[in-house]
Amino acid sequence: MFDLTKAVEQDKAFIDGVWEKLDKKLSVVSERSRDKVPYTTENGTHINNHNISWWTNGFWPGLMWLMYVGTKNETYKKTAERTEELLDEALEGFFGLHHDVGFMWHISAGVNYRITGNEKSKVRTMYAASTLAARYNLNAKIIRAWNSDPCVAIIDCMMNIPLLYWASREIGDPRYKHIAMSHADTTMENHIRPDGSVKHIVEYDVETGEYVKEIGGQGFGEHSSWSRGQAWALHGFVLSYIHTGKQEYLDTAKRIAHYFIACVCDDYLPKADFRSPEEPVLYDTTASACAACGLIEIARNVPEHEGKIYYRAAIKLLKALDANFCNYEMDEDSIVQMGTERWTDKPETIGKTTHIPIIYGDYYFAEAIYKLKGFDLLFE
Ligand code: GLY
Repeated sequence: MFDLTKAVEQDKAFIDGVWEKLDKKLSVVSERSRDKVPYTTENGTHINNHNISWWTNGFWPGLMWLMYVGTKNETYKKTAERTEELLDEALEGFFGLHHDVGFMWHISAGVNYRITGNEKSKVRTMYAASTLAARYNLNAKIIRAWNSDPCVAIIDCMMNIPLLYWASREIGDPRYKHIAMSHADTTMENHIRPDGSVKHIVEYDVETGEYVKEIGGQGFGEHSSWSRGQAWALHGFVLSYIHTGKQEYLDTAKRIAHYFIACVCDDYLPKADFRSPEEPVLYDTTASACAACGLIEIARNVPEHEGKIYYRAAIKLLKALDANFCNYEMDEDSIVQMGTERWTDKPETIGKTTHIPIIYGDYYFAEAIYKLKGFDLLFE
């Protein structure tokens, strides 16, 4: 297998340098934003997300746990625990919950339980897993994404199902894993195009489970290639491989990775959609941060001479992010700039929903560096 520990030696100065910059800034921001659940910033300051069920609310505590494990600085732990408590309102409210409970609790309460053995965190994570499993549609063989649509699946869910693999292992009941694999199999068949590009949304008939149609979603449109969706798929399929050992998942992750690398190979700066008009030029840094994490996982799960392809691509994406899009100013709260919620041709969205810092950009950028530093794996 590819030896990641050996490979990182040549990039040690870069990796250590970024980790130091992250720690220097985040150790201060951690205290400053302790009572907030950040999503983006306004004038450089994290704004509190008032929708407690919002799908991104686990990334801030998740980021804090990464930094805690890597530094043992208690400030990070305190902030992660504080946010986990704030999220109880979403669990208790129940009706605001959706398929993104994996993003919300697997990397927050799930990591807390894993590190500290906190029983309350274990219950929170099991509860989240059970609500995710309950969204499975037996006939369509998919996990329902949102509450507004009776039977659509979105590619993002590949990042939520590791919560189900965890739950099966935790309580010794394979049903959660069966649901996760069934969803992954359907996604592999219906979302991944032969060329490695990915459909964002697929609708099914809620009764019969038959495939109805592809829906455009957050990319340029139907048949386009939303870069964050590519990244969710690349990273999500390799995680499913790690949890199950099913070779097709690794092969699928590699196919998506080859397509992703081909689309960024000019400058390693990620466009928001790989199949959109040339203008406006829209970037989405969250896509390359998430893809870099998945590429690192592919690298360490393939043979020596193959792993370097994925490793080098991950390093190039991370270097491009660091050099072009990272803000290490101490008096501003976010790090990775230029994230984009959805593709748009409306210039008035720039700075509002387009080309803004988004919390999961910071999370995945830090996760990639964390992995390269060789810290304990938290996401199995
Ligand atoms: N999961 C929604 C998004 O990636 O924006």
